[in-house]
Amino acid sequence: MTAAAHAEDAGGVAAATVAAAGIVGRLDYPMFVVTACDGTERSGCLAGFVTQCSIVPARFVVCISKENHTCGVAARATALGLHLLGEDQIDVASLFGELTGDRTDKFDRVAWHEDPSGAPVLEACAAWVCGNVLDRRDFGDHVGHLLQPSAGGGGGKGGLLRYGRARHLHPGHPPRSRTD
Ligand SMILES: Cc1cc2nc3c(=O)[nH]c(=O)nc-3n(C[C@H](O)[C@H](O)[C@H](O)COP(=O)(O)O)c2cc1C
Repeated sequence: MTAAAHAEDAGGVAAATVAAAGIVGRLDYPMFVVTACDGTERSGCLAGFVTQCSIVPARFVVCISKENHTCGVAARATALGLHLLGEDQIDVASLFGELTGDRTDKFDRVAWHEDPSGAPVLEACAAWVCGNVLDRRDFGDHVGHLLQPSAGGGGGKGGLLRYGRARHLHPGHPPRSRTD
C-alpha cells in the first residue's frame, strides 16, 4: 500500500470510529452480571455487551473482555449464569464491575447457589438464566459466548439497571487502549 493510500485508509477508519461512537454514545442497554465456574474457581463480572440472538431456541450472546478474570474462568467452564440486574442494584453492579477476581472473591459478598449446570446463581437479581456455552468466538477485545439457557427464574428485584446509571463506575479491568 502506498503512503497516500495508507493515510486515506487510516482516515476512513478514524471516520468510522467517530461514527460508531455516535451510536454507542446513544445506547442505554440493561446491565447484567455474568458468572462462571470451571469446577474449581468461581468468577463473575458486570456486562453490558449482552443480547438475545435467537428466539426459538432462546439464545444469548454474552461478550466478556479478554482483560477480565472472568474470561479465563469462562473459557474453562461449560456453562454460564446470566443475571439481569434490578433498578436498585447499583451496589451489585459496583461489586462485579469495579472489583476483580484477580484479588477479590466477590462471591463472599453476595448470596448465591450453584445451578446443576455448575454456574453460580445470584439470589438477588431481576431475572436469571443458566445454560451451556454452545460456541465461543473472538470478537476483538471481547470473547463472544453463545449461551443456550437450560434453567432460569426471577430474582425478586424490579425494574432494570441500565448503563446510564452505571456508567460512572470504574471497571476493575479497564479496556486496553489501542496501540496500533
Ligand atoms: C458499566 C460497565 C459495563 C461493563 N460491561 C462489560 C462487558 O460488557 N463485558 C465485560 O467483559 N466487562 C464489562 N465491564 C467490565 C467488568 O465488569 C470489570 O472490568 C470487572 O471488574 C471485571 O471483573 P473480573 O476481573 O473479576 O472478571 C463493564 C464495566 C462497567 C463499569
